[in-house]
Amino acid sequence: MQLAVTGANGFVGRHVVTRAVRSGWTVTGVVRSEAAAGIVSAAGGRPAELTAPDVDALSRAFEGARAVVHLAQIGAERDGQTYDEVNVGLTERVLAACRRSGVPRLVFFSGLGVAHYGMKRRCTNPYFLSKLTAETGLFRSGIEGVVFRPSYVVGPGDAFLPAVLGAMAAGEVERPGDGSYRMQPIAVADAAALVLAAAAHPGHPFPTVFDLVGPEPLSYARLVERVAQAARVGGTPVAYEVREIALAEAERQARAGGYQGMLPDELDCLLCDEVGDPSPLVTLLGRPLTPLAEALASAVRAA
Ligand SMILES: NC(=O)c1ccc[n+]([C@@H]2O[C@H](COP(=O)([O-])OP(=O)(O)OC[C@H]3O[C@@H](n4cnc5c(N)ncnc54)[C@H](OP(=O)(O)O)[C@@H]3O)[C@@H](O)[C@H]2O)c1
Repeated sequence: MQLAVTGANGFVGRHVVTRAVRSGWTVTGVVRSEAAAGIVSAAGGRPAELTAPDVDALSRAFEGARAVVHLAQIGAERDGQTYDEVNVGLTERVLAACRRSGVPRLVFFSGLGVAHYGMKRRCTNPYFLSKLTAETGLFRSGIEGVVFRPSYVVGPGDAFLPAVLGAMAAGEVERPGDGSYRMQPIAVADAAALVLAAAAHPGHPFPTVFDLVGPEPLSYARLVERVAQAARVGGTPVAYEVREIALAEAERQARAGGYQGMLPDELDCLLCDEVGDPSPLVTLLGRPLTPLAEALASAVRAA
């Protein structure tokens, strides 16, 4: 029952480490700084601090693991990091290290738009291409791969919800376009439980690629309303106006350095209107997924 997790200090990573430790796994959390190592230790994991995660160092960190959960990736190219180096190159090194240390299975987090690369404009960008390339490397590797393609993962520690609540507290939520584009948020607790189910599955599970989506698809406009509703149920009075900004203007700002902190590929992820079928997740998990209201309430309480 040994697990290794890359990106173990990130939002999803900390939930995976905490849940795995509580479920009896011994967890090595691969990170790249002392502060991140502290987060892994606090979650009950054993940190492996690798400032240069080459194949040798990764192989040593993965030794004895039943599975590697590979979450160390980027959603946009900033601070000199590139998709080629991180999403593609690091994934290749992780796969080589799995082979060298005899780890049979890799659980990989991709992106929900990947299946529509080349079919929908907002799914056809360098971010989704890097995830598609990494997936292909996994499929060709001979390692048992389980791919989760997430919509928005919601829960304590996620970056999106506090930003919306902050805008509400300031009285105005700015919305790109009419907000009709859909998403399908999944509770981070379910995401972590699914990762462990995939890691522990006695054989190579099928399907091996899952849309990581919650039980309820909804438009972005409706999601904002549901966040407000969750805050009110939690006892926070919420009164705000929605101000629409033209999509073209949001895109212009994203290209010019960031729209509300989002670079163009990140804005695509918000606007790409991707939903999926959660039923294979329910089968893998052996129980229903957390209702959206409950997932939002938990995230609002923590924000
Ligand atoms: N959260 C969502 O809603 C969502 C939606 C779609 C897809 N995903 C995918 O799910 C995965 C986990 O997401 P998350 O929300 O947990 O991400 P996150 O909070 O941003 O965490 C990313 C992790 O990757 C590490 N990392 C980044 N660049 C690295 C590099 N060059 N070398 C080694 N480690 C590096 C970070 O380490 P540092 O802290 O040291 O930077 C951090 O531990 C990612 O692959 C993401 O693309 C997430």
